[in-house]
Amino acid sequence: MKNLVKIKNKIGSFNQKISVTGDKSLSIRWVLFASLASGKSTAHNLLLSEDVLASINAVKKLGIKVKLKKNLCTIFGNGLDGYKYSKNLVINAKNSGTLGRLIAGLFVDSLHKIKIIGDKSLSKRDFSRISKPLKKFGANIDLKNKSLPLTILGTNNLKPIKYFEDRGSAQCKSSIIFAALKTPGKTFIKAKKSRNHTELLCKYLKLPVKVKNEKKYDIIKVDQAKKIKPLNYKIPSDISSSAFFIVLTALTKNSSLLINNVNINPSRIGIVKILKKMGVKILFKNKKKYKGELIADIYISGAKKLKSINCPTKWNSGAIDEFLIIFLVAAKAKGISYFKDLAELNQKESPRLRWGSKILNMMGIKTITTKNSIKIYGNPDLKINKKIIIKDYLKDHRVFMTSVIAGLSFGGEWHLYDKDSIKTSFPKFLNIINRFKK
Ligand code: S3P
Repeated sequence: MKNLVKIKNKIGSFNQKISVTGDKSLSIRWVLFASLASGKSTAHNLLLSEDVLASINAVKKLGIKVKLKKNLCTIFGNGLDGYKYSKNLVINAKNSGTLGRLIAGLFVDSLHKIKIIGDKSLSKRDFSRISKPLKKFGANIDLKNKSLPLTILGTNNLKPIKYFEDRGSAQCKSSIIFAALKTPGKTFIKAKKSRNHTELLCKYLKLPVKVKNEKKYDIIKVDQAKKIKPLNYKIPSDISSSAFFIVLTALTKNSSLLINNVNINPSRIGIVKILKKMGVKILFKNKKKYKGELIADIYISGAKKLKSINCPTKWNSGAIDEFLIIFLVAAKAKGISYFKDLAELNQKESPRLRWGSKILNMMGIKTITTKNSIKIYGNPDLKINKKIIIKDYLKDHRVFMTSVIAGLSFGGEWHLYDKDSIKTSFPKFLNIINRFKK
């Protein structure tokens, strides 16, 4: 079976240096900003995954010229009002919540109806979280039972809004910022903390976006943008892709790893804070700033003893894509780990809180799971000696990659279906894994 991967052996100790591919959030945002810029933008090290390719296809359908040579991408923007398309346009966001939600914000002034569709997983996800604010701007939106397909018809009579984004969703916040950049007048957003790449890019591009950081929330004021200048960017590596190798190292005795040039934006490093508290040694080396983002090499060494954690909820949003892999560390830690206020995890590509719990149970780890929390009863001597088969999980890339790491760290025979799921965010994942199998 072409799409089946079998993991049969635990990995031995290693001392490695790796690079992972470009940050997905930044790659998608770069494509969208570049498509709105006046002139030619370039990106080096753009992530060439299905989510980003879907973003490129989307802007091409909007009449924007794109050239792709290896991972150097050039986009020829026609300005903020430069999208050209005919009636009945369909944009396929495939598996990407980020693309589907962010691009909708750019359609609040569309002249014709645009339909946004997605794959089976994306079609199960909540889009009312963006249709609500976008309707307040004046856009006409149809949505089937809160989910895709979404049809949007813009207006030339946009009104600025006041909005409280209380989920901590960067996708929702960014969709509103995009709509506000097209809207005359001042939009106010009070947003629960979440990744802030959109705001940092706006700042770098000198767009009229002001951010005041409060303890739990950010107050964001956005005025209409007149023009967006081209954006030449070198995409740093993705901490969410690095996370799998950080955990592989943490769980493998006498091992160490250096990951080059990773985006360590403070709103993304929840996993580092959590694992450090659990006893993993992680260091940031060669820290530098790049166009508003923080970048460093990450050094990890295998932990001798792992401690359980009562995870502070303030770290949740910074680790939202990493919980599945963090749960593996909790499985080996001494004591009961507790992760709470995590209802959003069940809103991802698959219901990840439920799935995380199921996988741990298959591994022989006891869990108590509610709608928004999980208790994990760790076992420092965990060794797996059975066959574990994982399929039918909505092809969630992070479920697949977490299962690979579980097999390599704890043993057992793992039959994992849908290897192709990694194309969503990390097509090179298995190539890098192979470098660890000496
Ligand atoms: C993302 C935001 C997060 C994250 C997703 C990427 C982004 O989603 O889970 O993988 O690039 O803005 P939410 O905003 O829905 O929490």
